[in-house]
Amino acid sequence: MAASLSMALANLCFLLLLLSSSKAELSTNYYSKSCPSVFTTVKSIVQSAISKERQMGASLLRLHFHDCFVNGCDGSILLKDTLSFTGEQNAFPNRKSARGYNVVDDIKSAVEKECPGVVSCADILAIAARDSVVKLGGPSWNVKVGRKDARTASQAASNRDIPAPTFSLNNLSSSFRAQGLSTKDMVALSGSHSIGQAQCSKFRDHIYNDSNIDSSFANSRQLSCPRATGPGDKNLAPLDLQTPTVFNNNYYKNLINQRGLLHSDQELFNGGSTDSQVRSYSTNPSIFNADFAAAMIKMGNIRPLTGSNGEIRKNCKRVN
Ligand code: HEM
Repeated sequence: MAASLSMALANLCFLLLLLSSSKAELSTNYYSKSCPSVFTTVKSIVQSAISKERQMGASLLRLHFHDCFVNGCDGSILLKDTLSFTGEQNAFPNRKSARGYNVVDDIKSAVEKECPGVVSCADILAIAARDSVVKLGGPSWNVKVGRKDARTASQAASNRDIPAPTFSLNNLSSSFRAQGLSTKDMVALSGSHSIGQAQCSKFRDHIYNDSNIDSSFANSRQLSCPRATGPGDKNLAPLDLQTPTVFNNNYYKNLINQRGLLHSDQELFNGGSTDSQVRSYSTNPSIFNADFAAAMIKMGNIRPLTGSNGEIRKNCKRVN
């Protein structure tokens, strides 16, 4: 009797848990009553920031990625270090590299004016990433919202969980698998490197030491990326050499021609299991666009804080 009662109780708990977790899902209409203007406000600020500087679209897209891969899409990357707080902005993948924080602050101020205390910084990152891709000519998708902001951040998790440009195909796949994303998602999301820039320090080894690189491409990249560490470390090169400010499938065409800028880029087309997907995206922009949009939605779903977890930060730079 006692056993069946505890069985029934356990079942009830399980049901309640299921109910509460299904309630906690993100949705596209989360702000339709509380802040109906949020999507137009974010879009207009993203568009004007990109009109001023095309690279900003790439930078905003990357911020969302670096947010989601570290303890979920919870706005943790936006928390600034203070004397008593160490966040993610100075973690190795972000330090002197991640950018766009000011645009996020501008968006947040505008949204706070319209709907104070309603829209999370984590959601702003997700919407801004989509609007950036669209503004630069890429696909659109419906952004799910309803994330809360974290009260913590983790430099250690950032160093551990964001994939590095030195990674092999296996390393890349496991780093995405750890976030619940497949190798297929990884190859699709890497198409983000159709826009934006990388610093010499991140691709030096590839252009000097790897053999799976087109030699004239390597030579031309070496002209502005000296072999020795020094002031040239920060010199920039486009991740897609032809159209670095247009979101398209050129990235994959480059990989087929051994013109990937990062070691990790070229790993996706290096005689391994992902070659066929790269080939397919290089000739089918619509398949790439559809897979990219689907994978962005999946990435945006990584362990969000919802319901009573987390907070709506007033200022994205610090906890309330
Ligand atoms: C597959 C593993 C990935 C690795 C190893 C990687 C690595 C890098 C590195 C090293 C840079 C250059 C940073 C610098 O030099 O300052 C970069 C730039 C960038 N990454 Fe990735 N990335 C990966 C996946 C992604 C994903 C999934 C996204 C987006 C969903 C993304 C979006 C970007 C963008 C847009 C830029 C250019 C940023 C700018 O110009 O400001 N990356 N990435």
